[in-house]
Amino acid sequence: MSKQILITGGAGYIGSHTTVSLLEAGHEVVIIDNLSNSSIESINRIQLITGKSPIFIEGDIRDTDLLDRIFTKFNIEAVLHFAGLKAVGESVEDPIKYYSNNVCGSLSLFQAMAKADVFRLVFSSSATVYGEPDNMPISEDFLTGTPTNPYGKTKLVVEQIIADLVQADRRWSIASLRYFNPVGAHPSGLIGEDPQGIPNNLLPYISRVAIGELAELSVFGNDYATPDGTGIRDYIHVVDLAKGHLKSLHAIFHKTGMYIWNLGTGKGYSVLEMIAAFEKASGKSIAYRIAPRRAGDIAECWANPSKAAEELLWEAELGLDDMMIDTWRWQSSNPQGYDS
Ligand code: NAD
Ligand code: UD1
Repeated sequence: MSKQILITGGAGYIGSHTTVSLLEAGHEVVIIDNLSNSSIESINRIQLITGKSPIFIEGDIRDTDLLDRIFTKFNIEAVLHFAGLKAVGESVEDPIKYYSNNVCGSLSLFQAMAKADVFRLVFSSSATVYGEPDNMPISEDFLTGTPTNPYGKTKLVVEQIIADLVQADRRWSIASLRYFNPVGAHPSGLIGEDPQGIPNNLLPYISRVAIGELAELSVFGNDYATPDGTGIRDYIHVVDLAKGHLKSLHAIFHKTGMYIWNLGTGKGYSVLEMIAAFEKASGKSIAYRIAPRRAGDIAECWANPSKAAEELLWEAELGLDDMMIDTWRWQSSNPQGYDS
């Protein structure tokens, strides 16, 4: 009987790119997604890119009966867990929604996995768990901090649950991947980030200004202690991130315990550098104005990616130009995202 990888949230931005990587590597994939922040069209696009079809199940990871049926029906050998909500502002306004989805959803999944004797897991964590470190770059041995919002706290709580799981039962083999700032899109232009409503994150916002849907970008603060005064982040191409998942999955296959890896490039770019790079790639001029700092933002954040390089033999291969060219190809050929 063939074996499958279960991908929760596989219709979403990072999950869809990772599904492509897994299918191309010869894995069979089962996706569960409730489509709360994604479109079924992404599954059709995955088929167009790979010529292969993931099995798609529309449902919620908090539906324990559904999870039990999935683990009974399929021969799942590992789970990649992307399903969750990620809008920082919304998490401040509606924390119950975030703890229910991200924490209760993860618990429901872990319970169903244990019941089915499936103990390999790759979890989507975030650099937000580091809080506001005193120095850069950030290594995995930095202490975790206090995330400034409920979204970030849900990531930290799930990491703590994972640490307790591996202590309690030595069969678990879990990678927690701390992403820095995922951007970009598949080079085909067929899948990409498709945020609902007004984007919160920088590059989706810039893209919407470029297609004329939003008038101008607000640059949140130019008085940080950085070379040009604007915030610095470690932007990583989503295709590199997807490859990092494949490597992590393979790395935990014959191990047990919990493994934390930063997935970043090790390079930081400022908001103004991002605007300039996007303008160069797209040929569009981006209107912007300097606005007050956004609550909860930190001045700078970039990874020390050497642990992943040594232990996974993974490092980001795509640079800023690739991130911008691929973002623009996706945005300009799908101006309304998957509804285009
Ligand atoms: P996304 O919203 O595009 O994808 C998440 C997917 O999960 C969506 O398709 C959504 O419909 C689905 N989903 C949400 N709740 C669900 C539930 N209860 N049951 C079933 N499906 C559910 O987000 P993304 O950018 O692809 O992020 C994937 C994961 O990575 C998330 O856990 C996110 O918190 C984490 N992460 C993202 C970033 C980022 O910048 N994109 C950074 C760090 C961590
Ligand atoms: C944000 C979240 C973080 C989450 C990550 C990925 C906050 C405080 N943090 O990270 O928890 O894991 O997204 O979803 O929201 N910027 C502007 N104008 C904009 C948007 C952003 O100037 O319209 C600036 C920000 O101030 C920051 C940089 O661009 O300096 C990147 O912002 P963003 O893309 O939102 O990512 P983070 O803030 O790093």
